[in-house]
Amino acid sequence: MAIINVNGQKRDLGNVSSDTPLLWVLRDQLGLTGTKYGCGVSECGVCTVHLDGDAVQSCVTTVGEVGDSVVTTIEGLSDDGLHPVQNAWREHGVPQCGYCQVGQMMMAAALLKSNNDPTDEDIDNEMWNICRCGTYPRIRAAIKTAAKELQK
Ligand code: FES
Ligand code: FES
Repeated sequence: MAIINVNGQKRDLGNVSSDTPLLWVLRDQLGLTGTKYGCGVSECGVCTVHLDGDAVQSCVTTVGEVGDSVVTTIEGLSDDGLHPVQNAWREHGVPQCGYCQVGQMMMAAALLKSNNDPTDEDIDNEMWNICRCGTYPRIRAAIKTAAKELQK
């Protein structure tokens, strides 16, 4: 029996195999469909979640690797949808089609935890998520707005 800690709750995954990708159980078993599937090989970042606060790609993280670590998805990033990153994304109207944006926000939230005043270079280095709509300038602006909020 596999039990993982997701968004502050212990979730029983039954007899799921330990090599099952975390993304599969989040979406298909737990109904946490905010996290998206893109490449499946850690190349696009769309499936990014937090594992003990660090950004990881859930398409290549297995249930066995999660173990006792704490998983946070977009559904658990804040209680009310008002995390500084979420506020900044709304303020800047970042999404276009929207598909990549949850992964972008989860990556940005992890970046801001370790660096609350990122430069353009820091952002470009850390935010390797792909956006086919090219929202990169708005992502960068929103991260700077969120950083200011976190500095207060
Ligand atoms: S789906 Fe996981 S990195 Fe692309
Ligand atoms: S907003 Fe469309 S892929 Fe990023």
